[in-house]
Amino acid sequence: MKREMGYAVLALCLGLSAAACTGDEGGQASGADTGRGGEEGGSSESRSHHEPDAMAPPDAGPGMPGDPAMDAARRMVEEGRETFRRDTFGDEAFWGGALRLHDAIKGEALGGVGDGVSPATALALGLKVDVDALPPELLEALAAGQVDLDDPATTLALLQLDAVVGVKGIFDDGGQLVSAGIRCALCHSTVDDSFAPGIGHRLDGWAARDLDVGAIIAAAPDLSPLTALLGVDDATLRAVLRGWGTGKFDAEVLLDGKAAGGPSGSSATLIPPAYGLAGVNLHTFTGWGSVTYWNAFVANLEMQGQGVFYDPRLDDADRFPIAAANQFGHKSSSPDLITPKLAALHFYQLALEAPTPPAGSFDEKAAARGEALFAGKARCAGCHVPPLYTEPGWNLHTPEEIGIDDFQAKRSPEGRYRTTPLRGLWSHQTGGFYHDGRFATLFDVVCHYDSAFHLGLSGSEKDDVVQFLLSL
Ligand code: HEC
Ligand code: HEC
Repeated sequence: MKREMGYAVLALCLGLSAAACTGDEGGQASGADTGRGGEEGGSSESRSHHEPDAMAPPDAGPGMPGDPAMDAARRMVEEGRETFRRDTFGDEAFWGGALRLHDAIKGEALGGVGDGVSPATALALGLKVDVDALPPELLEALAAGQVDLDDPATTLALLQLDAVVGVKGIFDDGGQLVSAGIRCALCHSTVDDSFAPGIGHRLDGWAARDLDVGAIIAAAPDLSPLTALLGVDDATLRAVLRGWGTGKFDAEVLLDGKAAGGPSGSSATLIPPAYGLAGVNLHTFTGWGSVTYWNAFVANLEMQGQGVFYDPRLDDADRFPIAAANQFGHKSSSPDLITPKLAALHFYQLALEAPTPPAGSFDEKAAARGEALFAGKARCAGCHVPPLYTEPGWNLHTPEEIGIDDFQAKRSPEGRYRTTPLRGLWSHQTGGFYHDGRFATLFDVVCHYDSAFHLGLSGSEKDDVVQFLLSL
């Protein structure tokens, strides 16, 4: 792992006050400058210095009673952020209790199984470390190369500090790791690499495109709860999980048991960003429902948290054989650890704006030409309506309407694809575009539309549209 780039920053941080150093890391254009994730350590601090009154009523000074709506907004954002970053909704009963993921993290030497997960391995799997959770002594030792990044015991120490983004380690009084759970931030956050690659300030809402979720799940010693549900053997399931690839996950496999299909052969989709969602009607690639619908779905049925979930569409045994047989659309766990969190979680997600492209990252003149093409000859704005870049209203299309196959669409209740809101495209170019990443570049996307819709765009017109897409 490369650690050099963190040293200068660390020296700065140790010497200066936190407020002076956190907003000014400079190293990564995608980080402190542009992240709008509302993270405590990085850009939100610097932003709140610039815009102290962004969330406050104009006449509310310190100590004065505020506008009730603004007070509620602030409270909801704070609560929702906590839920997004730290809540497991009780899912440790599944990931730790049933799959024993924590035993794989510990490794045999520390009382678990296998080699254990060292920090180097964790970072290679795309897991991230929240630099704001690390005490100064540890930062110093890390910078001095005095921390053993090949020892699973170091991972346990990081988990005890709650520094691994999206993963919760549960320790007993004797300091033993006894269980583990996952959080929303696992897949929908990254860090700005301000300290070192994989170690930095949180960027909430950014898609974890270098995270290998399948490999992480496949590391669990006991997959029997999943093999029983899916009716496949252990080796088959592990092969499917390892086949998903980086930045991907299959949110429907536990409903329909389909582990293969579509042009790539894999049933997994890309992890989408969870920012820039306000004003957008239907969410997920195939339009399952609103943000709060999907939040409840994921917390209950994917993360395996303890809550209440209702969706009679899952009773359709042809489309969702596993969900129908197991009554997934009628789930009711007690206590309900999910429903009370949904309102604030929804509010927080809507507050996460898409990050602005870094200055100089696209050609402004070409982008201006591209904007005219987007609304005109290229006919993009008919569906991607600015400034939301999806349709106000019912934002779904048949596979034929966008010129692609129906494999993934047919795995959802509506059988359609949702018009993706396009803001922040520049920040998730790893892994490709469209739900399964079938188009490696934005240029490939534009070429697809050019041929599917017979647009007759010239090569330079296609380039201009790409520059416009990068400017969003
Ligand atoms: C294991 C990885 C993973 C975890 C954990 C996870 N998600 Fe997701 N999320 C995904 C994937 C993959 C999709 C795309 C699913 C699809 O379209 O079929 C998605 C889609 C979404 C969307 C829709 C985004 C859009 O463009 O419309 C929202 C909102 C969302 N997730 C919120 C959450 C919340 C809130 C949590 C925690 C309760 C969470 N996710 C946990 C992987 C994850
Ligand atoms: C008929 C409606 C429609 C039109 C017209 C349309 N799109 Fe799309 N667009 C969609 C849908 C639906 C998706 C989601 C496809 C998927 O995920 O498989 C999408 C996805 C995209 C994506 C991928 C975003 C991502 O994050 O993966 C880009 C980029 C895009 N469109 C750009 C354009 C451009 C540029 C044009 C004009 C040349 C255009 N679209 C025309 C409906 C449309």
